Amino acid sequence: MLTSAMLAFAGAGAAAPAAAQAAKLPAYLDARLPVHKRVEDLLSRMTLDEKIGQMTQAERAAVTPEDITRYRIGSVLSGGGSTPTPNTPQAWADMYDQFQRAALATPKRIPMIYGVDAVHGHNNLVGATIFPHNIGLGATRDPELVKKIGRATAEEVAATGVDWTFAPCLCVARNDRWGRTYESFGEVPELPAAMSVIVDGFQGRKLNGPTSILATAKHYVGDGGTTGGVDQGDTQVSEAELRRIHLPPFRAAVKRGVGSVMVSFSSWNGVKMHGHRYLITDVLKKELGFKGFVVSDWNGIDQIDGQPGFTPQEVSTAINAGIDMVMVPYDWRKFIDTLRAEVRAGHVSMARINDANRRILTKKFELGLFERPFADRRHQRTIGSAEHRALARRAVAESQVLLKNKGNVLPLSRHHNKIFVAGKAADDIGIQSGGWTITWQGSPGAITPGTTILEGIRQTVGKSTTVDYSKDGSGIDGSYKAAIAVVGELPYAEFEGDRPGEMGLDAEDLQTIERLRASGVPVIVVLVSGRPLDIAKELPGWDALVASWLPGTEGRGVADVLFGVTKPTGKLPMTWMASADQQPINRGDGKKPLFPFGYGLTYRR
Ligand code: GLC
Repeated sequence: MLTSAMLAFAGAGAAAPAAAQAAKLPAYLDARLPVHKRVEDLLSRMTLDEKIGQMTQAERAAVTPEDITRYRIGSVLSGGGSTPTPNTPQAWADMYDQFQRAALATPKRIPMIYGVDAVHGHNNLVGATIFPHNIGLGATRDPELVKKIGRATAEEVAATGVDWTFAPCLCVARNDRWGRTYESFGEVPELPAAMSVIVDGFQGRKLNGPTSILATAKHYVGDGGTTGGVDQGDTQVSEAELRRIHLPPFRAAVKRGVGSVMVSFSSWNGVKMHGHRYLITDVLKKELGFKGFVVSDWNGIDQIDGQPGFTPQEVSTAINAGIDMVMVPYDWRKFIDTLRAEVRAGHVSMARINDANRRILTKKFELGLFERPFADRRHQRTIGSAEHRALARRAVAESQVLLKNKGNVLPLSRHHNKIFVAGKAADDIGIQSGGWTITWQGSPGAITPGTTILEGIRQTVGKSTTVDYSKDGSGIDGSYKAAIAVVGELPYAEFEGDRPGEMGLDAEDLQTIERLRASGVPVIVVLVSGRPLDIAKELPGWDALVASWLPGTEGRGVADVLFGVTKPTGKLPMTWMASADQQPINRGDGKKPLFPFGYGLTYRR
C-alpha cells in the first residue's frame, strides 16, 4: 500500500506504477514494515543536524514554517494560552497543517509532533468542553469516568490536528499551599496511580487511531512534595519516601504505555530533576522500563545550574541525564548549535543522540504521523458537543463533596421555593474553570461558552421557584428560604497560585456570606477553589458546605447535587486542614484535620 507520503517522497504522480515506485522508496516510508525496522532505517540515513532537530521543541509563536524546514525542528508546542488567531478549530488545524507541510519539506520528510496542555479538556481552545480539574476528578473516585474524559478530550484535541497532550499531571500534592494542588488527583499515591487510566483514554486502543493522542506523565518526579509547597522547589525526602509517595503514579502510567514523560522543574534534595541521571535514566528508563521519550519542561534545562539561560554544560548534563527532547521555546537556534558542539566535543555521545531519536521516532511512527501527517478535521463536530458536555456535567456532579449539611438543609426543593444566590464565583465561567483555561493563568469572565453555576441553578428549578442573584448578596431579606454563596479562589496557575501565607477566603467573600447570614436565612456555601481552604473559623456559621473544586464549563452539575438530581458521592482527595499552620497535612500524619482524607456526606433520602 503506497501512502501519500510515499508517493510525495518519490515525487511521483498518482499514476506512476505503484510497484516501480515502491521499489525506489526508502524502507522507513514503507508502512508494511514493523516500526523498529522503519526507525533503524531512518536513523541510518539521518545527519547529526537532523537528529538534533528531532530533539528540539519550539514554541509556535517563536518559530516559522521556514525555520521548521531549515533547522529540521521535530516538534512545536503551544505554551499555555498560545493560540492561533482566530482561536477556532479551523485556525488550529490550518496552523498545524502549515507547520506540518514545512516539516515534510525537509529531505527526510519526518513529520513534526505538536504538543499542548490539554489538562482539563482542550483548554486553550474557545468552545472546547472544559472538564473539572484533576482535584475534582480525584474526588469522584471514578477511574472509568476519568478514562472517558481522556477519550473525549483526545477527540477534541485531535480534531484540531494536535497530536500530543502534556497530561496527565500525576503529581501527589502533599502541601496544599502549592499553586498546582488542583492539578493533582490526590495526596496519596494510589489516587493518581488509579487515575493514570486517563492515559488509556488519551492514547486510545491503538496509538495510530484517528483520534488518539500521545499522553505525558508529568512532572517526574516529586513535584508535589516540595518543602513548603513551593512550586519548582526542593523535595527534601529520603529515597524510600520518594519511591513510596511520588513514584507509584509514574510506574502505573509506564505500565499503561504512556508515550512521554515530562521532567519536573523541582529538585530532589537539592539536585534539579532536569539533570538527574539516576532518576531519569536508571530509575525511569531502566528500572521502570519506560520506552517512550522524555521531554523537558519549559526552559527547564536553564535551571540546572541555578543561573538564567542555559550553558553548554547544562545542555550536555540534561541530555546525558536522559532527556530526549528539549522544550526550548525561544532559544532553539542556540540549543541546536550548542548540542551540535557538545556532540563534536565528545561531551554527548552519538549513542545517546541515537537513543533519544529512536524513542522520539518510534512514537511518531506509532502515532501514524508518517502515513497521516495532516489534521483530520472530521471530528471537529465533537468539540464542545452536547455529548461531551453531558459527560463533563456528570463529572462535575460526581466531584462535589458535601462537607456539612446542618438540619438536612440540602437537597433544596426544586419547586415552590425562593432562593437567593450570591458570590463572585456564582455567575462566572472563568472562575469556575480555574487556571489553564483559554490563557495560561485563566481569568474571570465569560471566557468561553458554558453554563455558570447560577445558570445551572436556574435551569434546574421549576417555574414555581424564584431564584434571585446579586454578586455581593445585597437585596437579600428574610423572605427567602435559602441562600447559596458561591465563593472561592480567582484563577491561577503554577507558582502564581502558591499561598505561603493565609489560606482563607478573601474579604469580598467573607462580606458576601455575612450579608447573607444577617438575613437569618440558612446559608449554603459552595466553595470554588483549587484546594482545601482555611475555613474552620467561619464554618459554624454556615448551614451547609459543598467543595466544588474547579468544575469547568458545565456548572449545572453543581446544581444537580444542590437540588438532589444527583446525590453527592464525592470523597475528599486531600485532607482538609483545621488551620493553615497545619500544612502540610496528610492522611496518617497524626495531625487532627477539620475533615479527613476520604470524607464526604450524602443525602439520607
Ligand atoms: C509549564 C508547566 C508544564 C507545561 C509546560 C508547557 O511551565 O510546568 O506543566 O506542560 O510548561 O506549557
